[in-house]
Amino acid sequence: MKDLKHFVVCGGGMMGCAIAQVFCRIEDAEVTIWNHRQKDIGSMMRQNMKELVAHGVMTEAEVDAIVERVVLVTDLNDERIQRADLVIECVPEVMETKQNLFRDLEAITSDDCIYCTNTSVMSPTEIAEKCEHKERVVGTHFWNPGHLIPLVEVVKTKDTSEEVMQATMDILAKADKKPIYCKKDVPGFVANRMQHALWREAIDIVNQGIADPETVDDAVKYSFGLRLPQLGPIENSDMVSTTLTYNIHSYVLKYLADNHEPSPIIVKMKEEGKEGFKSGEGFMKWDDEKIQASKDGLNEYLIKMIYGK
Ligand SMILES: NC(=O)c1ccc[n+]([C@@H]2O[C@H](COP(=O)([O-])OP(=O)(O)OC[C@H]3O[C@@H](n4cnc5c(N)ncnc54)[C@H](O)[C@@H]3O)[C@@H](O)[C@H]2O)c1
Repeated sequence: MKDLKHFVVCGGGMMGCAIAQVFCRIEDAEVTIWNHRQKDIGSMMRQNMKELVAHGVMTEAEVDAIVERVVLVTDLNDERIQRADLVIECVPEVMETKQNLFRDLEAITSDDCIYCTNTSVMSPTEIAEKCEHKERVVGTHFWNPGHLIPLVEVVKTKDTSEEVMQATMDILAKADKKPIYCKKDVPGFVANRMQHALWREAIDIVNQGIADPETVDDAVKYSFGLRLPQLGPIENSDMVSTTLTYNIHSYVLKYLADNHEPSPIIVKMKEEGKEGFKSGEGFMKWDDEKIQASKDGLNEYLIKMIYGK
């Protein structure tokens, strides 16, 4: 596989801008954002990097250099797209929009270009459906905020070639990401399956009146949540012994939530328009100050965890 140097991000929204910044970590990389209409991507990228500057992770000069380096184009036929080595799609989560974009890109780009989709939940195999060269389509699921969270789930479709999987894993590692190899294209890939298994149980505990919403979050934050960045569940199972895991699961699994539809409490909140931050009330009540404190707290925590600053 040739050296990958020309990167195109399709869709200059929240994820697209963050991902463009990530590709700027690769020396000499040409980074382009294609958006279907003009957009102030510079302001979005500056906003992302504001806290990194405040914490001394980046300088203002480095921010300026990234903003200058990422070029926005609105014409899909632009020569910067024609010479792309890797395109990553971050357009809205609409199957047809994604499928048509890849079909159009195939007609414009070189015959060894890699096509990545940053879909949150859709099947990359289905997204590749209108492509002739399905072996060059791969899922790359970044996590929000894309410029901070290291994980990228690299998802093999039923057609992705091993060469494309490896080249994608390698280039993401070069951009200081933590790519993981997902061997099968399944809903939720790997990390969201685990995340939502936990959310299902957390919501069920509230729904059953076992504990209040704040208490459920505290139970995570002050116990296993603290060790999770160091000790994953599989290593933890080995640590306590797989026999103990067997004994605990034999007793407790039958009591855990196994609903295949959203919990009644979530259905009720949807009907009542209680959307959380968006409406000012969800499980908890939120005003502007509390919302800002929650967002700032998360970013500060992530910067401390990732950069030690
Ligand atoms: N937001 C997240 O937390 C998150 C995390 C991982 C993956 N994703 C996925 O990333 C993708 C982009 O999400 P986002 O949050 O950056 O969205 P966004 O709305 O911030 O950005 C979408 C961009 O696509 C452009 N666009 C709109 N309609 C278009 C069209 N018809 N054709 C081409 N471009 C169009 C918009 O101008 C915008 O710049 C989605 O597939 C989303 O599911 C989102």
